[in-house]
Amino acid sequence: MLLKLTGIKKSFKNGILYRTILENLTLNIEEGESIAIKGKSGCGKSTLLNILGGLIPSDEGVMSFNGRKISDLSAVERTEYRKKNVGFITQNFHLLNDRNVYDNIALPLQYLKLTKKQIKNNIEKVLCDLEIENTIRRDIRTLSGGERQRVAIARAIVKNPSILLADEPTGSLDENTEKTIMGIFDALNQKGMTLVMVTHDDSISSYCKKVYQLYNKKLHHVNHMG
Ligand SMILES: Nc1ncnc2c1ncn2[C@@H]1O[C@H](COP(=O)(O)OP(=O)(O)O)[C@@H](O)[C@H]1O
Ligand SMILES: [Mg+2]
Repeated sequence: MLLKLTGIKKSFKNGILYRTILENLTLNIEEGESIAIKGKSGCGKSTLLNILGGLIPSDEGVMSFNGRKISDLSAVERTEYRKKNVGFITQNFHLLNDRNVYDNIALPLQYLKLTKKQIKNNIEKVLCDLEIENTIRRDIRTLSGGERQRVAIARAIVKNPSILLADEPTGSLDENTEKTIMGIFDALNQKGMTLVMVTHDDSISSYCKKVYQLYNKKLHHVNHMG
């Protein structure tokens, strides 16, 4: 089992009250799986992805990655888990706006201590795959929404992570670009990368082998049209 979550609980403070978003949530993710998570706005999809990616801790429960307990780690150790293993496409991308495309995508590779040449080769390949090689020296703030989205995807997949988490990755893309992106995710998944994505779109979730609906603070396995 690549990722195993048992009894996960997460609450957020809302004024003086705590609101529980996830409770007694269970999820098993096998290596090579592709999973879509659907659910109403505000039900906790991004929160769950943030827990899976080690961005935030759960309040209760156990999360293990390849049998290693992640839920017990310190914030620094959790960050290390994320940087080594997880590709993350967050909902608002979190790109460095005053740097160019190359520097943004180089960051996760620098952390992994690749050589300059390896970094350059990897970046050129991923930009080519995503058909945005012409943006390589452009600053992020000069890019269109769709280009930014592809840069965020490039940065997440460039280190060939064992698991890719994507929070509504095709949200603002036109249908053709959406198909290109899903084709890329599909190819990565065929090569063994585990994929978990949040999406509202049935045509997108149909690419995934398993579909879950998040409601009542838990995940519920549904069929593709659920
Ligand atoms: N850091 C936070 N502090 C307080 N409330 C939060 C925080 N993050 C998320 N929430 C709340 O938790 C709920 C679930 O949020 P989220 O996981 O972003 O939902 P979704 O991605 O399904 O739309 C929302 O009501 C949101 O306002
Ligand atoms: Mg969200």
